[in-house]
Amino acid sequence: MKTVNVSLKDRSYQIIIKKNIFANIAAHHFSNYKKSKAIIITDKNVAKHYIKKFVSSFNKYKFDIQVIEILPGEKSKDLLVIKKVAEKLLKSNVKRNDIIYALGGGVVGDFSGFLASIILRGIKFIQVPTTLLSQVDSSVGGKTGVNTSTGKNLIGSFYQPTAVFIDPNTLKSLPQKEFMSGYSEVLKYSLINDKKFFYWLDLNSNKIISKNSKIMTEIINNCCIKKSIIVKKDEKELNHRMLLNLGHTFAHAIEKELKYKVKHGEAVSVGILMAIRLSILLNKTKHTNYNLIKSHLNKVNLPTSLICLNSKKKWNARSLIRNMLSDKKRVDKNIKFILLHDIGKAYIENSVSYEKIYLTIKEFFNE
Ligand code: GLY
Repeated sequence: MKTVNVSLKDRSYQIIIKKNIFANIAAHHFSNYKKSKAIIITDKNVAKHYIKKFVSSFNKYKFDIQVIEILPGEKSKDLLVIKKVAEKLLKSNVKRNDIIYALGGGVVGDFSGFLASIILRGIKFIQVPTTLLSQVDSSVGGKTGVNTSTGKNLIGSFYQPTAVFIDPNTLKSLPQKEFMSGYSEVLKYSLINDKKFFYWLDLNSNKIISKNSKIMTEIINNCCIKKSIIVKKDEKELNHRMLLNLGHTFAHAIEKELKYKVKHGEAVSVGILMAIRLSILLNKTKHTNYNLIKSHLNKVNLPTSLICLNSKKKWNARSLIRNMLSDKKRVDKNIKFILLHDIGKAYIENSVSYEKIYLTIKEFFNE
């Protein structure tokens, strides 16, 4: 068992990483919340694999349990779905001391966290992430929210969970494409501030692809430590936490262009490479870094060009820039980028000319 502390004063919590963790979660509930109902929010895909096992570990203690299944995918991150589930909970007499468990990937986590933050003006929630993306990134740090017609995650809250329980074994049931898509976020951490981690990942590429249990546990632990340090420094993303958006300015524009019919992590993979390209154009980093990262992405079968993401689309650089400009989270007329001085040395670039952005994107039409 590995434990990572997220130190945030009265909002501090632990991340516990352990195989076959469900029994520990039920025992934790028994020790801390004996009188509370366990409200388990999950989606139908996750439920298929895990809900029986999860519920039976709780049944041992004869707790009051309620299971709520939402539809898989981003469409559930909607205020109307929040309202529907909130009303269901209220009708079943939810209490302020009840605990919401988010059993699933990023969508379930973001949805459940947001609901927990508003129902009865806030009840406790615990993350039980089952995808690589949610285990290394979205379940830690308290970003919660839903989407609107103007963009993703534009309604939400910073609301920290009271614990995160991670079972690396759940990765086994994840489709390979989804697993590798989550890996982009792992690579991101190494590029932000840990060159040694990058080389270690590169060395272990084959074991990563085959979901080697020891390697994956090591990766999850390392990423959770890294995220907890960043979140402790800058919980509300006023500056330092923005580094976690490496590759994301490009990725969000790509996702919008493809009407979100692309895996987030695959767009991040191309977005990361674009950010390195832009760093080279601005004379901030060496071309060899680009080659190293691209070769690593090739080894782990992640996309490296826009054509890899969608070969039928007529890609248009101006349209991607327009998507960046319409990003509602932008605070001034400049588009912010997270760029690299070196592998393991990311920084925030506040001002880049449109021409340089344009030239960068153009290079990804054919590669
Ligand atoms: N996923 C980026 C963050 O939590 O800030």
